[in-house]
Amino acid sequence: MSELHTPHAGDDRAEDDDVVALLMRQHGDIRNLFDEVEATTGEERRDAFRRLVRLLAVHETAEEEVVHPFARRRLPGGEQVVEDRLAEERAAKETLAALDEMDTDDPEFMPRLRALRTDVQEHARAEERYEFTHIRRSTDVTGLATMAKAVKAAEAMAPTRPHPGVESGAKNVALGPVAALMDRTKDAVRRAMGGDG
Ligand SMILES: [Fe+2]
Ligand SMILES: [Fe+2]
Repeated sequence: MSELHTPHAGDDRAEDDDVVALLMRQHGDIRNLFDEVEATTGEERRDAFRRLVRLLAVHETAEEEVVHPFARRRLPGGEQVVEDRLAEERAAKETLAALDEMDTDDPEFMPRLRALRTDVQEHARAEERYEFTHIRRSTDVTGLATMAKAVKAAEAMAPTRPHPGVESGAKNVALGPVAALMDRTKDAVRRAMGGDG
């Protein structure tokens, strides 16, 4: 098994039933994929970067569709908290789209990737601190499970845990641009939420 495993908060809850545990695990997966991109070169780096792009795209889209609207409505001061998170996500998406156009062997690639990593990790910490902990207190098990189902539908668009032989290099080329993936993810999430949520 080459899969990286970093223990993180949220592991104590079942991901199927708890949107917070699921999103925390994705934050860990994102961190591991940044590690993988930084630790590899050539074809391996291209492959790891493709997986990172996909996971980031579906993760942020799911948060925008599922947890930010909830936080906005239900948390004290939620309006401002969500505005701040959305601004961070917009900036990250722009950098991500620019990186996605670059060759991973370009000398400019790694410095920009590291800048993105810093921004993405600060963003994730802010979500965990200002949104996630409060979401658990502000909803019941049914609410957590419904949101988890929607985030899982999004995650199905980005298989981050490669099955041997499935996710190797050349097969990842024709996945289409980030924006198209985000649109498809939005549709999948909305279907899972059953209408406009
Ligand atoms: Fe986010
Ligand atoms: Fe996040």
